[in-house]
Amino acid sequence: MSVSAIIAAAGSGERFGADYPKALIQLGSCTLLEHAIASLAPVTDQIIISAPAGFEKQISELVGNEITVVTGGATRAESVRNALVFVTSDYVLVHDAARALASTTLAQRIIDQLIAGEKAVIPGLAQIDTVKIICADGFVASTPDRRKLRTIQTPQGFLTSILQEAHVSNLDATDDSAMVEAIGIKVKVIEGEERAMKITTPMDLVKALSFLGFNSSFRTGIGIDAHAFAAGRPMWLGGLYWPDEVGVDGHSDGDVAAHAMCDALFAATQLGDLGSNFGVDRSEYAGASGVQLLKETYSKICASGFSIANVTVQIIANRPKLGKRRTEAIQVLSTALGGADVWLSATTTDGMGLTGEGKGIAAIATALVFKQ
Ligand code: CTP
Ligand code: MG
Repeated sequence: MSVSAIIAAAGSGERFGADYPKALIQLGSCTLLEHAIASLAPVTDQIIISAPAGFEKQISELVGNEITVVTGGATRAESVRNALVFVTSDYVLVHDAARALASTTLAQRIIDQLIAGEKAVIPGLAQIDTVKIICADGFVASTPDRRKLRTIQTPQGFLTSILQEAHVSNLDATDDSAMVEAIGIKVKVIEGEERAMKITTPMDLVKALSFLGFNSSFRTGIGIDAHAFAAGRPMWLGGLYWPDEVGVDGHSDGDVAAHAMCDALFAATQLGDLGSNFGVDRSEYAGASGVQLLKETYSKICASGFSIANVTVQIIANRPKLGKRRTEAIQVLSTALGGADVWLSATTTDGMGLTGEGKGIAAIATALVFKQ
């Protein structure tokens, strides 16, 4: 048995108010249309997109040649009909590009019902607000029992032959199940999902982004570390070994950049500080490398549910000169933090203070983290 998917993406998005089609609006890392494709592709054998007239080529280039792109119609129903002609499978899912974040699991649950013998299956959520049926004069005609109401979403699943039959009438309806009902087919409603919300206005993007982990609570932290030079010690800085430099004193390898970063991360996540996590009383951390401490910090903050937005560290020292090894250091520090966005800079202090007088080396770091 095979499943095709039609993605209705031909609307102009008038209520959204952009000067290009709504399906091409960016949501996080990709467009609404690409999100919709990503959720349906794993459970379908064929995808057909109804594109707004004039955008067929652009959309085809965006989605690749394995996906069929047809020109949409003046109404959603017409857009679906234009795509339905190309459906080759026994079952078909009809989905709105505007419901970009509907999950693959939801699509699979619809398909499961079709396989079990249903002819038409749609997702719905319980109605939150009371709904009134009103007359043309603006007065209430009746109040339906809210417990019996559902707000209907997509993807909607059908036996292809049934959907074809429903569309023969050339009726217009805002959803396909209404047309299927009209030809006397029983439509089954299963539990929908919040994230299958329809993106209609810019305000809806705020909610949609929260499903992608944006709008999480962000927190910043700061960390500082300084060590005095000590003859005979190897120099470790920014996760790198510096063979021609004098190292610094310290319980661990004395990598002030890595230590400041750990402290900034502990501060942002409120998980203590460098001392309370890896202090001198912990013999297992004697001589520990900066990279090792960063790795351990990273697993501790992940275990507490935090993700890193970025970490910046500035080294304050006359030497070593960082410029030539900056990329290398960033790579090592970032890898220790699971590939996080890291930046490293350096400065001197015009000959003043501990670092300016060449007595030692310091670093200051900031971290931005978020919890979903
Ligand atoms: N749609 C379509 N063809 C149309 C109209 C709508 O394929 N002629 C699609 C839209 O692209 C959308 C879905 O149907 O994915 C649901 O429609 P809606 O959310 O109303 O989107 P738009 O019609 O684009 O928005 P608006 O009504 O604000 O113009
Ligand atoms: Mg519309």
